[in-house]
Amino acid sequence: GVSEGSACLKEEVLPEDVGTDDCLTSYTHIYSPDLLKDQVAFITGGGSGIGLRIADVFMRHGCDTVIASRNFDKLKEAAEKLSAATGRRCLPLCIDVRQPESIAAAVDETLKELGRIDVLINNAAGNFLCPATALSFNAFKTVMEIDTMGTFNTSKVVYEKWFKDHGGNIVNISATLGYKGQALQVHAGSAKAANDAMTRHLAVEWGPSGVRVNAVAPGPISGTEGYRRLGGPRGEAAGLFQTIPLQRAGNKTEMAHCTLFLASPASSYVTGAILVADGGSWLTSANDFSKLLGIASSKSAKL
Ligand code: HXC
Ligand code: NAP
Repeated sequence: GVSEGSACLKEEVLPEDVGTDDCLTSYTHIYSPDLLKDQVAFITGGGSGIGLRIADVFMRHGCDTVIASRNFDKLKEAAEKLSAATGRRCLPLCIDVRQPESIAAAVDETLKELGRIDVLINNAAGNFLCPATALSFNAFKTVMEIDTMGTFNTSKVVYEKWFKDHGGNIVNISATLGYKGQALQVHAGSAKAANDAMTRHLAVEWGPSGVRVNAVAPGPISGTEGYRRLGGPRGEAAGLFQTIPLQRAGNKTEMAHCTLFLASPASSYVTGAILVADGGSWLTSANDFSKLLGIASSKSAKL
């Protein structure tokens, strides 16, 4: 079972089940349950992994959500589960963050159905382990287009259609990969580094319109597609996580709580900030090319 919601109050946090996209079965609030009361959050990639948990936790704080990505069947199923678990509205909408028209249509639909947008979470991303020499030009471009241009496209559409006149709050889900040039990650590390810069640029430009722009940079987060693709379970089994100062992977609820802090009035004077939420991982973890190459060429890292 998934019980880390209540365990977050303690020093020790139980790891949650790996590989499931279920809603929390129990939850103990550490923030006020009304923290996002009657607000609306638009969450890209909200149908799975960290994005789905952000939706779950936000809805437990009084928020209605839109979860938006490419696979509508997955979104619809997730939205039904989320509403049943939390009693709030969740609207599933089909977008590809590389196609601004699809984002514009979804934002129009959100405003028609839910009447407002208070929070935008740029969580959609694509990644895989691959050495630079094996990475095709199109593979690099694809990750840049989803992670970096997708974040810009969605931010710009939401800003122009709503935040410009009403204010709002953007949280980008980043990564620490670029901090030390992680092996086999030139595509995602470059894309997320650009997003960190974008976080600061847009915080400066849009602050006067009452828009805050911040980021959360997760470390390895169990129970996610990113964790599976980047060899998390194998790394954990091989004892690699003992080098992480907090000695374990993070979990999705912990990422949702960091995101909730930045999306809520709890952080009302914070903008342009990047909250690293990785248990200290990037400071100490190995950046071992040969070990990672072994994981990349193993079956578990293939799509
Ligand atoms: C090398 C690959 C590859 C792989 C795809 N490509 N997968 N190259 N290794 N494993 C290449 C393809 O050959 C192609 O290049 C180009 O990338 C585009 O591939 P498509 O399949 O056409 O792209 P598309 O359908 O748009 O799919 C995007 C995708 C896919 C990123 C490739 O994996 C995806 O949709 N991912 C979404 C889910 C996901 O990745 N979740 C994890 C996020 S975790 P050519 O030259 O052949 O045309 C995360 C963690 C960060 O970001 C940090 C953790 C610490
Ligand atoms: P995930 O479940 O695969 O989430 C990625 C989501 O993005 C999916 O729901 C996917 O849905 C959506 N998406 C991908 N391409 C899209 C596109 N072109 N347009 C719209 N939506 C798109 O993986 P995750 O591990 O939870 O990752 C979530 C975020 O956390 C990402 O930003 C990732 O970089 C970041 N992160 C994760 C970890 C980790 O350990 N998991 C570590 C650091 C950072 P569709 O397939 O339906 O489009």
